[in-house]
Amino acid sequence: MTYSSKPRKIVITEALLYANGDVHLGHVLGCIQSDIWARFQRLRGHECHYVSGSDTHGTPIMIKAQSLNLDPLEMVINVAKRQQEDFAGFDISFDSFEITHDPLNQALVNKVYEKLKEKGDIVVEEVEQAYDNVKSMFLPDRYIKGTCPRCNKPDQYGDSCEACGATYGPMELIDPVSVLSGVKPGVRTSTHYFLKTSNYTELLKTWYKTCQIQPEVINKLSEWFETGLRSWDISRDAPYFGFEIPDAPNKFFYVWLDAPVGYISSSKSSADKLGVDYNSFWEKNSDYELVQFMGKDIAYFHLLFWPVLLMGGGYRLPNRIQIHGFLTVDSCKMSKSRGTFIRARDYLNAGLNTDCLRYYFAAKLNSSVKDIDLNLQDMLHKVNSDLVGKIANIASRCSTFVKKFHNNILADELDESALWELFVSKSGEIADLYERCEYSYAMQEIMKLTDLANQYIDRCKPWILAKQPDQMRKVHLVCTQGINLFHICMIYLSPVIPKAANSAKEFLNTESLCWKNVEVPLLGRQINDFKPILSRLNNEQLDILLNRANCVSEELS
Ligand code: 2FM
Ligand code: ZN
Repeated sequence: MTYSSKPRKIVITEALLYANGDVHLGHVLGCIQSDIWARFQRLRGHECHYVSGSDTHGTPIMIKAQSLNLDPLEMVINVAKRQQEDFAGFDISFDSFEITHDPLNQALVNKVYEKLKEKGDIVVEEVEQAYDNVKSMFLPDRYIKGTCPRCNKPDQYGDSCEACGATYGPMELIDPVSVLSGVKPGVRTSTHYFLKTSNYTELLKTWYKTCQIQPEVINKLSEWFETGLRSWDISRDAPYFGFEIPDAPNKFFYVWLDAPVGYISSSKSSADKLGVDYNSFWEKNSDYELVQFMGKDIAYFHLLFWPVLLMGGGYRLPNRIQIHGFLTVDSCKMSKSRGTFIRARDYLNAGLNTDCLRYYFAAKLNSSVKDIDLNLQDMLHKVNSDLVGKIANIASRCSTFVKKFHNNILADELDESALWELFVSKSGEIADLYERCEYSYAMQEIMKLTDLANQYIDRCKPWILAKQPDQMRKVHLVCTQGINLFHICMIYLSPVIPKAANSAKEFLNTESLCWKNVEVPLLGRQINDFKPILSRLNNEQLDILLNRANCVSEELS
């Protein structure tokens, strides 16, 4: 597939994180995937609005704030600030990051709801639900535990059994108890508001045909449609931290209604920065592409409910849904007790370079929804071998001679134009791999180029030539060639390793590593002294990181 080089206008979203906990490396994985894509598109010269934020509503957030004796709003503002700092630490380049508990978001949610109501898409029904008489609140299924009615395994949640996979209603559990009070829940009736998603069945199916969705996900879609779409309960009873439903006192919108609308409200700040109207991102026939990144656990919401909210609200639909798998550590789910639950802060505070993790994830990420495994030893070897041993090595080997004999001024021509042209000719293929989120293949292609560059230097042996006075011109040409090959490789890698790319920019004395500069050789110009763009990872650093992760598990247990 080839993509036009015409300027594009793109809104890129990353799923909004719940504001009730710390960012961990699983969240960072998702953001690194979308950030690489956003950075790549910007380098290509496209107008991008990379939007995310903090998802601040719902029962778990309310309960967490209660347990900390905090006002929920105060808590979510603090958590969102920490999340933003963590993401910034990993160079996640969001253009907008807003919280969903926000007046604009509330106004938009109300508008969508009113439109759905006018269209007859909202129905009201009485629902029987578990009720905690001690806490005076209705209990979501996950707040009830008991023994599985099918396999008798104790301590299972009210919706499904982790042991045998059975699904059931919470009151079918044997000896159900409220997680909040420890007492047996009663049952009460309450009025609930439902969105009739089945009214949109055909429209959804038409959208799936035009939207770029991974094939594995398309297969899942047909399973959901087999039994017909069920109406979606969009209301929750007080007490609830969220937005009150306008015509229904003490009823609140379910968090999953206002969270995705948060993409719209959050996008305003990015639009404002560029002086464009955020409505133009979302209106029907918008000339912006809408590309949404998320983990596989929330595909269901984004492929069924969110598009219905968009259609009902009179908005445009996404052009592409890009779904990734989960992060495992040493092939297992991250675990606090095993000390493999690594928070973003643990990594940052251990002083590890974030480019290392970004590169390691990129070298594993592709467009499949399969899980990605983090093994720290593997990361150490990969980073030291590829980034230090291959890419940085090209520049360090050549820069010495340019400095020593030529005052850091590059020669006015290349030694082997054909080799340089080969590097340039890979631009389309590598760009296409980035575009399709096939980052692991892009990294492989780039590493093949770094091998060629190092082989070229090995072949020319400037360190031997430099001992022969009549070969000084050749040394200059060879090193200029090497530095130009390094320049191209760094452009190709810069969406992945922004810190190293900045150091490279300084070394090369160039304004920008934008993609089209691949074709512009650096000749006859002043460069700066080479400083290592990245240092080797060592076991001591990894030990510090693991100790920190272990401390978290002790704090939390
Ligand atoms: O699953 C989650 O973490 C949700 N907070 C994702 C919301 S994405 C969007 F809808 F806001
Ligand atoms: Zn069971």
